[in-house]
Amino acid sequence: MTRTTSSRRLIVSLALFTAAWHTALGAEPAGKEVHDFYNVIAPEGADPWIIRHSDGRYYAMVTTGVNLTLIRSDTISGLGGGETKVVWEPARGDTEGKNIWAPEIHFLEGKWYIYAAADNGKNARHRMFAFENPSADPFEGRFVLKGKVHDPAVDRWAIDGTVLSLNKRLYFIWSGWEGTRDVRQDLYIAPMSNPWTLAGPRVKISEPTFDWEKRGGPPSINEGPQALVHDGRVFIVYSAAGSWTDHYCLGMLTASEHSNLLDPRSWRKNSEPVFAGANRVIAPGHCSFVSSPDGTQPWILYHSARYPGAGWTRLVRAQPFSWGNDGVPIFGEPAPPDRSIALPSGEPAHMRFEAENAILTGSAHSVECQSASGDRKVVSIDTPGASLTFELKVETAGTYVASIRSANGSPREAVAVQHLSTNGQRAADVRYENNGRDRWSNVFVRLDLTAGLNRVQLTHSENSAELDCLDLISLPTRSRATPAR
Ligand code: AHR
Repeated sequence: MTRTTSSRRLIVSLALFTAAWHTALGAEPAGKEVHDFYNVIAPEGADPWIIRHSDGRYYAMVTTGVNLTLIRSDTISGLGGGETKVVWEPARGDTEGKNIWAPEIHFLEGKWYIYAAADNGKNARHRMFAFENPSADPFEGRFVLKGKVHDPAVDRWAIDGTVLSLNKRLYFIWSGWEGTRDVRQDLYIAPMSNPWTLAGPRVKISEPTFDWEKRGGPPSINEGPQALVHDGRVFIVYSAAGSWTDHYCLGMLTASEHSNLLDPRSWRKNSEPVFAGANRVIAPGHCSFVSSPDGTQPWILYHSARYPGAGWTRLVRAQPFSWGNDGVPIFGEPAPPDRSIALPSGEPAHMRFEAENAILTGSAHSVECQSASGDRKVVSIDTPGASLTFELKVETAGTYVASIRSANGSPREAVAVQHLSTNGQRAADVRYENNGRDRWSNVFVRLDLTAGLNRVQLTHSENSAELDCLDLISLPTRSRATPAR
């Protein structure tokens, strides 16, 4: 054996010994740079709407039911840790402005508009409303109600309104009742004379006709219309079947971009769903579309039920889609939740810190798990004194988004809670929704870290959430300052 080989073997064995000793001490070796992420991008929420604005940031909304909350994020994968702000809520004592569903923010004609459905507490009174904010930054200024977006001649139940801007014309597309009874939800389109006023009668372009659209009914459902324009065609991807059932899925209408979109004969419907439950993802629906940060990839965001039969208990996922050679979108199947997917093109790498490499105390210990990153997870964080401490090393001080991959299968569908502290400073508690055993999700926290080593501790408080890893998402300098809440 030559001297060189023996010294190399010695160096390798010393390195292995050091790493083992380091891990044995429970200290966290430096995180691993990764270019993938695990769904979910928001652990709670439905009807995800997202746009990428000219400032390069993502602006998103989900149904809260009680207000209009705006989310701003530099990434798709860290959406759940974005800045948030309630930009409108009904005045105290206001009898309208209840059951606020599926809000969308659009930047039209140099101003911000939010569209949302609301009622007076009775679903039959659901109508679409438009709010306007002239501020260049939608987190500044105020959103003011511009009025009800409706066809005065036929003022009927309406939800899930979206605006299509095409060839210098605005169209409003929504889900509505033909009459005054809740027997069926159809899709309607109408021209707009400005971002809050219809300029002509509504035209029905789809009603549930196939069995897969009628499941869970009556009422049978076409709703959540979302427009995609590509290669000379307009695609309306909509949700079908009862949103309260596991049958919820996506269908699609197609028309030529140069046809009369206000003529029902211009639209052709796919006979089968274009996106449906699979790979343990249940009831995918009410989608929206956006490009990756570098603009090269189309992505779809959608909500899904958190577990079989969960009804409106929903969360938000994201995955890329592609365009076929024929110019038609190919959505494929929902990405399997137990596998990571490549980050959207142009997003910065994450730093992944495995829970099993954190400093564990009390009953917390790691076990093998095939669906966990690094094939191990930490369990039994369910007694007083049980904790994990991640040692996060960062070069630059500032605010970071941490995505904590976790699963809460506590009995009786109970929420799990852990105390979070950063460098000994107690922050807000971390709340883990209960999706059932081995149903991974993510919780997102914004961490203010100092340059160098930071100790982020999660300590048992209520019930038991198992942890897989913590992905640290760096933010551009402009976002580093701790934002207004
Ligand atoms: O989330 C509330 C409603 O649920 C949405 O408006 C609709 O798309 C779905 O039925």
